[in-house]
Amino acid sequence: MKIAIGADHAGFKLKEEIKKFLTVQGIEPLDLGTYSENSVNYAEYAEKVALAVAKKETDRGILICGTGIGMSIAANKVAGIRAALVHSIYTAKMASQHNKANIICFGGRVESPEDAKGFIEIWLETPYEGERHQERLSKIEELEKKCKGGENV
Ligand code: RB5
Repeated sequence: MKIAIGADHAGFKLKEEIKKFLTVQGIEPLDLGTYSENSVNYAEYAEKVALAVAKKETDRGILICGTGIGMSIAANKVAGIRAALVHSIYTAKMASQHNKANIICFGGRVESPEDAKGFIEIWLETPYEGERHQERLSKIEELEKKCKGGENV
């Protein structure tokens, strides 16, 4: 499995920890930046990771900023992306089981590396439940099509 990973300056340290963890788990991380703690704009990295996932260059993605909020807002603008802001074992599990989240977002100023690693494990091992949830995801796809090209209809 290959996972694209990106962060801004506030998520840089946690990104480095998560990369090591993924490698130990036998998962190949594709690091799309940022590569230091110099101030950057999170939307740029959300775009890189979201496009890698949407174009199927990687299986999934992980994004980290200070809170995880900016990354999730930005990543969800890309068609086909379901980015979930995860902050507990329960939300990590539901992100897969109900939302089929293909990206998870963390707050580098919120989560400890140990908690984040635990959430990633749960997100990866929990299967998508489908059935009634598929109906809901289809509604999201319809919405995405309606808003194509930045035009709300
Ligand atoms: C950067 O200071 C901070 O605003 C950013 O990392 C993120 O938390 C935004 O949502």
